[in-house]
Amino acid sequence: MKNIVILTGAGISAESGLATFRGSDGLWDNYKVEDVASIEGFEKNPELVHTFYNNLFLKVQKAEPNEAHLAITKFQQERKDLQIDVVTQNVDLLHEKAKSENIYHIHGRIDECVCLNCGHIEKRKGDFHFNMPCKKCGQINVLKPNIVFFGEMPMYMDKVEKMLQQCDVFIAVGTSGVVYPAAGFVQTAKYYGAKTYLFNLDNTENNFFFDKQILGKAGETLPEFLADLSKK
Ligand code: OAD
Ligand code: ZN
Repeated sequence: MKNIVILTGAGISAESGLATFRGSDGLWDNYKVEDVASIEGFEKNPELVHTFYNNLFLKVQKAEPNEAHLAITKFQQERKDLQIDVVTQNVDLLHEKAKSENIYHIHGRIDECVCLNCGHIEKRKGDFHFNMPCKKCGQINVLKPNIVFFGEMPMYMDKVEKMLQQCDVFIAVGTSGVVYPAAGFVQTAKYYGAKTYLFNLDNTENNFFFDKQILGKAGETLPEFLADLSKK
């Protein structure tokens, strides 16, 4: 065992009080996905999109990592001899707060904006508005939350593809497996020989390529599993 990939989704942050996307009190409930998470929605009403992510940032800032995030950090600290990568679909910063390493935000991060004119990435201090000038090129009406919308390619895909091909163990945590390409990662990992595990609250249909599915709250199931894996 040398390389481990841990793919996380909204479910890993549920116990930290952040709503998942497709749960009953899901994040989209008061908004339409196509309004706040698509390129077309952003073009139609950019300020509405900024308001949505400004509010989400406030919630994210207050959230603390839970036992599942912390277990990943502990595993990384115990096994410095392994390459343990955290590929997250989450735009929250709970893996960072838990002090994990090798984190790849493939769907972007809530604390950044990107300038559509010059590509400059700006860290968030408070709210972003569409009419704020870019700090680098000075243009207005060019700032977009640095979040991957439907219709855009996720980030770090080349790097992640290599990780999937090389990993010995692939662990997905708290993800419904309906949003591609992340939903297809398990298939690649398994094809190249990895053992594959899924930690979700409830049974997901899209679990065909997982060797084992562990149901329950990730904060309760993941720490024990990683502690065992750490001894191997
Ligand atoms: P979903 O909301 O689709 O799925 C959450 C998953 O977490 C479900 O399978 C639940 O069973 C599971 N879950 C809930 N609570 C849990 C807990 N306490 N412990 C373990 N599992 C739990 O979220 P994602 O799969 O992350 O994209 O959604 C993928 C993408 O859809 C998101 O990254 C987002 C959205 O479009 C962007 O924002 C770009
Ligand atoms: Zn710019």
